[in-house]
Amino acid sequence: MLCNTKPLFLYVFTCIFALSACGEKSNPVTNDAAKTPVPEPSGHQSEVKTNPVSAPSNAQTSAPLTSLQQGKRLYKRCVTCHSLEEDGRTKTGPNLYNIFGAKIAANRDFNYSNAFKQSDIVWTDENLTEFIRKPSEFIPKTKMSFAGIRKDEDIAAILEYMRSEMAGE
Ligand code: HEC
Repeated sequence: MLCNTKPLFLYVFTCIFALSACGEKSNPVTNDAAKTPVPEPSGHQSEVKTNPVSAPSNAQTSAPLTSLQQGKRLYKRCVTCHSLEEDGRTKTGPNLYNIFGAKIAANRDFNYSNAFKQSDIVWTDENLTEFIRKPSEFIPKTKMSFAGIRKDEDIAAILEYMRSEMAGE
């Protein structure tokens, strides 16, 4: 009799132990999840980052960034040198308000390179695209020190964003 009860007792005990271990596990998990967003100052950065990161992962299934949103993001690389708004200030580069269809080097507030002054083109979408793709190749000796943007769709997105900004959308 004794010999029989012992293993049974042990078995029940193990079960209870296992169950309680399970119960305990679920707590640390929720705790962890609650902890992750909190950590110190970098918490802000990762918060900002998590949005764009989670957007593309949704994107794979349903809602990709629109090219306008993509363009807005990419234009951040230009905005250090180029304001876009009407009467925006001249920075390292000229203000780009109304650049579409404008002649090259037409902004009177800006002191263009000779390479620019001696060029005679109009900023059509095609020319803008080629210029943004590789400025130093499209206008050799330009003083726009920017390597360029390789992907056609990224350039198109930037142009779309610029256009929409100028249209006041
Ligand atoms: C480091 C500063 C800098 C960055 C970054 C930069 N540009 Fe420029 N950009 C310039 C300068 C300087 C010029 C004038 C070039 C010259 O005179 O040779 C210029 C000229 C231009 C022009 C022609 C302007 C005109 O009046 O003819 C366009 C269009 C342009 N940039 C678009 C862009 C776009 C779009 C981006 C981002 C993808 C960009 N630039 C990034 C400095 C910059």
